[in-house]
Amino acid sequence: MGRSVTVRVPAKVNLGLGVVAARPDGYHELVTVFHAVGLYDEVVVEQLPAGSGVTVRVTGEGAAEVPLGEDNIAARAAILAAAKAGASPDLTIRIIKSIPVAGGMAGGSADAAAVLMACATLWSGLDRGELPSMAALLGSDVPFLLRGGTMLATGRGENLTPVLARGEFHWVVALSESQLSTAAVYAEWDRLCSEGAVAPSSADADADLLQALRAGDPAALGRALRNDLQSAAVSLLPALERTLEAGHELGALGGIVSGSGPTCVFLARDREHALDIAVGLTTTGLVRSVKHVVGPVPGATVVGD
Ligand code: C5P
Repeated sequence: MGRSVTVRVPAKVNLGLGVVAARPDGYHELVTVFHAVGLYDEVVVEQLPAGSGVTVRVTGEGAAEVPLGEDNIAARAAILAAAKAGASPDLTIRIIKSIPVAGGMAGGSADAAAVLMACATLWSGLDRGELPSMAALLGSDVPFLLRGGTMLATGRGENLTPVLARGEFHWVVALSESQLSTAAVYAEWDRLCSEGAVAPSSADADADLLQALRAGDPAALGRALRNDLQSAAVSLLPALERTLEAGHELGALGGIVSGSGPTCVFLARDREHALDIAVGLTTTGLVRSVKHVVGPVPGATVVGD
């Protein structure tokens, strides 16, 4: 057995997601507040003898849906890290998933962030300070998953500024039976925008949202939750509307589609309230499973070396 490093990495939700403009490079300019929540993938990266190549093995939540091979984002992270470190990419990457696949919680991006962190621990030729720029090459959400916490993001999502957030917030995460491709949801937003059904947001961060976070006020945060991609996700998967209504009827302080969906997240007053909402949502039969998580939490963290 070679040396192995274990990294724990959280999921993200977007507390506010404003789509500012479609860009010529196929991406969209965003103004968003990322919030890392305590739903974790664990990623174990083991060094193999020279010439072994990169192997990815996935177990847990949605494992069968994760593409293996070199187009897997975790494998791409390892190959990029090896090139930067001057090391050979001979690794086994074992991913134990809890973050839903294609669920709008950046599960694939989280795994890529974890691999970068593991490689910077394995290889002295790779400095942790180099990871954010490499992360941005891999995907728009990857830089945030390295850092975690609560951050304002602009650009594609890669330009990060910490946001002052007091206390912790209790979330109920409702996992869907379905999956949505992020690219398809952005394309649907483009279509709705061309029809005039949705309009781009201003490039300014939402002052009510930032104030609610500064004050640590769950009721104000619940009112301030916004996601410009929600209409596009609901347009592709109309059943999400019923899930959102159910959370509202169960007394959630606020509820939105997470990122490009289809996972929905609901904000609770406290732990007990979250458990009540979780039980209520489970009994509706509208969702595949329900989890109670707390945020903010740190980003990718080495937990074993
Ligand atoms: O960056 P990432 O590979 O995660 O993005 C997946 C897809 O989501 C992109 O190919 C693009 O279609 C869409 N996207 C976008 N604007 C962003 C982030 C993602 O249009 N800011």
